[in-house]
Amino acid sequence: MTQTLTIRRPDDWHLHLRDGAMLRGLLPETARHFARAIIMPNLVPPVVTGAEAAAYRDRILSARPEGADFTPLMTLYLTEDTDPEDVAAAHASGLVTAVKLYPAGATTNSASGVRDFDRVRPVLERMAEIGMPLCVHGEVTDPEVDIFDREAAFIDRVLDPLRRATPGLRVVMEHITTRQGVDYARDGKDLGATITTHHLVINRNHILVGGIKPHYYCLPVAKREEHRLALRAAATSGDPTFFLGTDSAPHADPAKESSCGCAGCFTATNTMSILADVFEMDNALDRLEGFTSLHGPAFYGLPANDATLTLTRGAPVNYPAKIETGDGPVTVFDPQMPLHWSVS
Ligand code: DOR
Ligand code: ZN
Repeated sequence: MTQTLTIRRPDDWHLHLRDGAMLRGLLPETARHFARAIIMPNLVPPVVTGAEAAAYRDRILSARPEGADFTPLMTLYLTEDTDPEDVAAAHASGLVTAVKLYPAGATTNSASGVRDFDRVRPVLERMAEIGMPLCVHGEVTDPEVDIFDREAAFIDRVLDPLRRATPGLRVVMEHITTRQGVDYARDGKDLGATITTHHLVINRNHILVGGIKPHYYCLPVAKREEHRLALRAAATSGDPTFFLGTDSAPHADPAKESSCGCAGCFTATNTMSILADVFEMDNALDRLEGFTSLHGPAFYGLPANDATLTLTRGAPVNYPAKIETGDGPVTVFDPQMPLHWSVS
């Protein structure tokens, strides 16, 4: 008997689309399954102003495959010079959905991020007033803090004080990777948290045991198994605090397979198959739609999609190991397990 599962069309609440040939080569991978995505602004140079977001949005729209039903939801990259009025105007016009906070130096292209949080206070206060969400890359950059502890330290040292100082600010804890992240998000008001596909599947052993695996290296880096299990429990719990943000982050293979490899896992191609298998394994297939298609829109105050997506269970799913782009090949995330659910 064929088993099928029909859910509302999913959205991706955290996505890197890049620009130029990479954008044109990989946008179809997301647009095939997802109706909307929150687009990360960490281009070089970053997308800081409303005008830059409008230009980037146009480039994304013109890279859409013929007939694709895909809407990019734009974000602005928060800097210490960001103008609160520019942010408010870009939000009011519907051009921009959220602002992204990168602590300076935390990850790929974050050099223009925030060093002194007092300098962005006026922007955060304006955002709290107008109900505009702040998407946060939650890792401290203090060289004294171990990389595996950087998320937990960020919650105590930065996120909690920042939220107390700006009541009403709606915050998305992006790509949480720890039990501490799960617990803090679950207990907080005006808080959501995205979880990636790959952090539900890999722990730090996958990166380091039996040889270094550059395609499993991303930031925040995958943690111990107990943390992966906490993420699995949160994602499959049905709690609307938690929703999908793939953080699918392509780099061409030579940039990953290098003596100083870039951070990022590319999961756009097989995310929906992986998630269906993961939720099935955890006896939570009935909660997949909440995680991929309902909780995110509810947090962002948007309607869920009317269109649907149907998954069918059958013989192991085939997907390409790499996708060729005009900027070089990009390796697709390998979940190291056969996938049984394909998108029809
Ligand atoms: O692994 C990551 N890759 N984490 C980030 O925060 C940035 C992203 C990228 O842009 O490559
Ligand atoms: Zn990201």
